[in-house]
Amino acid sequence: MSENSLPKHVAFIMDGNGRWAKKRHKARSAGHTAGYGALQKIIAHAFKSGVETISFYAFSTENWSRPKEEVDKLLSLMSKALKLAGKKLLDEKIRLVISGDYSVLKPRTVKAISDLIEKTSKFTPYTVNICFNYGSRAEIVNAVNNMISDGIRKCDEKILSKYLYTKDLPDPDLIVRTSGEQRLSNFLMWQASYSELYFTDVLWPDFDEKEFDKAIEWYKTRERRYGKS
Ligand code: FPP
Repeated sequence: MSENSLPKHVAFIMDGNGRWAKKRHKARSAGHTAGYGALQKIIAHAFKSGVETISFYAFSTENWSRPKEEVDKLLSLMSKALKLAGKKLLDEKIRLVISGDYSVLKPRTVKAISDLIEKTSKFTPYTVNICFNYGSRAEIVNAVNNMISDGIRKCDEKILSKYLYTKDLPDPDLIVRTSGEQRLSNFLMWQASYSELYFTDVLWPDFDEKEFDKAIEWYKTRERRYGKS
């Protein structure tokens, strides 16, 4: 079996925050706060390891149906994260991409995010892609509607890809889902066509540098064939 090199793009479905909190008799929101801590650690470690693009499923189009208190917590974590990240992204020359409709956030936050996306847009190669208010189906419907508005009458895979939120990103080589669930849950479904899928029972707040390295070692043993024999 031929060895894979390092994945260029790793995407995370950060699952298990609620169970992590429950095990500690804490509110679910404490699990999300701990999950945010894990995300920060993984960003630093992934770039140090040589991975160039990392995506995180932070809030799905389906998450709106969670209790209001939990939704509010996730929205405020998102605003806080981006406020704190600004200087770091600029200092360390990391490009920020947001996949999803973030116009639902407070106008001040929307403006700050748009500015940050613009200011970091030319940075290469390191990219953080936060999937917020994101769902693959909504992304594809949005792309098709934008194509119609632009008068495109015939679509192909290349054109559709250019209308997705991820238009400037390579497809994920590796998708990691924590907490034992084994499904994509409407995450990067177009982009995941040839991704390797890694599932671990570790809950997201416990996913650390060692667990990241394990996922990468597993990826390196995979033979990627892209439909060829
Ligand atoms: C799934 O765990 C996790 C989420 C729905 C949210 C993930 C968000 C973060 C880690 C917050 C940090 C990110 C940013 C950028 C603000 P779950 O709550 O469904 O866990 P459970 O299945 O154990 O209940």
